[in-house]
Amino acid sequence: MTAIPTVPLNTGAGIPQIGLGTWPLTDSEAADAVVAAARAGYRHFDTATRYGNEAGVAEGMRRSGIDRDELFVTTKLDGEFQGGDRAIPGLEAALERMDLDHVDLLLMHWPLPARGQFVSTWKTFEQLHSDGRARAIGVSNFTPAHLDVLLGEASIVPAVNQIQISPLTPRDEWVTYNARHGIVTESWSPLGGPGAEVLAAPELAPIAQAHGVTVGQVVLRWHVQRGLVPLPKSSNPERMAQNMDVFGFELSDDDMSAIAALERPGTGVDPDRDGH
Ligand code: A2P
Repeated sequence: MTAIPTVPLNTGAGIPQIGLGTWPLTDSEAADAVVAAARAGYRHFDTATRYGNEAGVAEGMRRSGIDRDELFVTTKLDGEFQGGDRAIPGLEAALERMDLDHVDLLLMHWPLPARGQFVSTWKTFEQLHSDGRARAIGVSNFTPAHLDVLLGEASIVPAVNQIQISPLTPRDEWVTYNARHGIVTESWSPLGGPGAEVLAAPELAPIAQAHGVTVGQVVLRWHVQRGLVPLPKSSNPERMAQNMDVFGFELSDDDMSAIAALERPGTGVDPDRDGH
């Protein structure tokens, strides 16, 4: 198995190109999953205040016995922490739950454009970055239109935009926009979410067979070849190991197009209306 490579962030730090998704695990499930994932070779873990499992993720990081400096952890602050510098106590409470002095990446969980507070919240994120408690800052579920507004006011360009991407919702325009601004795109629910529905698509089986891999590996390889950072969730050690073992084969252009053809236009979350 090849080690997970890193992708450069605009801060100069590197982010491991596959991270472990942890929603909807409880604290104790997340701790066990992180320990198993670290044993398999994962170094990147994704949580959020809203998931209610930050403490478990951090506990798993400690139990793994791996140096904190070799691990990359992300958390996200939801709408409760937008506006009025609320992100400061928000991150402080998260760090206290995690018993950490910094996170590697702090994300604004949703833009909630109707509230009109994502720009002021970003200013608070910039402070949290300059005082070192968030080594990198970014956003989640932001469309190009939201980012146009943010970038018009920001001193710091988000390092990351984490969005819902799977072959069902490939979001080419959003990915291209992010790349044009040096923003790394992370994929949440990269296998299509709970139940991994996309893996049942009959088009995937022959591709997997041709490469001698599983359909899950085909889909995760499709993310990686697009330059994305997928965050597959699994609590099963065998599937965890499988999901990071996608650096030893290459999909052809035909494979990539066949996978992209699984798109179901009009599906997926709508960040203009959805979120919390
Ligand atoms: P499990 O935790 O039992 O492995 P997503 O990351 O898109 O949200 O998908 C998560 C879902 O996909 C979970 O139900 C997870 O179940 C399942 N899953 C994760 N990896 C694989 C895989 N390699 N093959 C099949 N199902 C998978």
